[in-house]
Amino acid sequence: MGWYKSIMPLLAIETTCDETAAAVITRSREVLSSVVASQEQLHARWRGVVPELASRAHVERIIPVIDEAVMRAGVATRDLEAVAVAVRPGLVGSLLVGLSAGKAIAAALRIPIVGYDHVLAHLYACRIAHGDVLTYPYVGLVASGGHTSLFHVRGPLDAERLGGTIDDAAGEAFDKAASLLGLGYPGGPEIERAAAGGNAKAHRLPRPLANDRERLDMSFSGLKTALRYLVRPPGASADVPPPQGQKLADLAASFQQAVVDSILAKVELAVERTGCRGVIVGGGVAANTLLRESLEALGRRRRLQVLIPPRSLCTDNAAMGAIAWERLERGEDDGFDLDVRPGTDRAAANRRPDVRSPTS
Ligand code: KG4
Ligand code: ZN
Repeated sequence: MGWYKSIMPLLAIETTCDETAAAVITRSREVLSSVVASQEQLHARWRGVVPELASRAHVERIIPVIDEAVMRAGVATRDLEAVAVAVRPGLVGSLLVGLSAGKAIAAALRIPIVGYDHVLAHLYACRIAHGDVLTYPYVGLVASGGHTSLFHVRGPLDAERLGGTIDDAAGEAFDKAASLLGLGYPGGPEIERAAAGGNAKAHRLPRPLANDRERLDMSFSGLKTALRYLVRPPGASADVPPPQGQKLADLAASFQQAVVDSILAKVELAVERTGCRGVIVGGGVAANTLLRESLEALGRRRRLQVLIPPRSLCTDNAAMGAIAWERLERGEDDGFDLDVRPGTDRAAANRRPDVRSPTS
């Protein structure tokens, strides 16, 4: 029984925003399966996540996604040791679907349920990707569609927020900029593609707060406005066609550079302030090649251990729900009164798209 129990894995469920995901992970943090059903196409027409559509899609997909994860892991449901669910922060309707599914499974199998924090889980993706090599403390950077924050991370479950965006999240800025440039959703990968071959110095876009050494805060909304004026100068007719060719490439490259510079300045300041010898990174924007390379260059220049997960572990997934093992190993779990905590993150609230203006 002893050896058998030690391989009993955890089922993690992730429905915080617009990905329905489930993963099966062993106590030794081996990811036996990780399934992500993206809703990108569903939301593309609105160029942002529509919460009501997201919840409905989660309801349709959650059971097939969980079944697929268990099947691919090659385990039987009765072998599961616990269920882990991302319960904060996120869209309330989306979070509730994952939590309800998790509770039903935990009740049916009479196994513990344990809630986890989605933002800390993004950082834990580094532990999944790089193995047991982390030597805390780290500066943690989470840059995604709903969050852009810097943390002083003393352990997997112990992170103090040092600063972050005071308006849009970095991913949200990419999404809105892509929309201004006539590109698709999600905007980050689209801008990255469009920027290839562009001159990042073609347009001098603002880097608000980047030179402010008093604060670890960032701001991206002015950058978006500056881009808007470049695309369509004040007073220009509303039906200016979106930029094409080299002009598009230069705008996309200049925008991408401005976002990356803004983030890098504050990561470096956070390293100076905390004295940490390493940086761990997570969230969808960490899939961006320029950001990855710039962070790695910073690491070489300052002799820091910089850990960035592979792209599939940067964007939302349930494998990072392996963080729940950290709580289970402390003997902690939650009862059936576990509830969601959507949070009041301003960036997440701002992210709601303008549902009056879908693309055709
Ligand atoms: O972590 P994530 O999948 O979901 C949230 O928790 O928000 O992040 C999604 C965000 C989107 O805003 C998307 O545009 C951005 O990450 N993103 C990128 C890239 N891939 C995804 N941003 C810049 N470059 C990328 N390659
Ligand atoms: Zn996320």
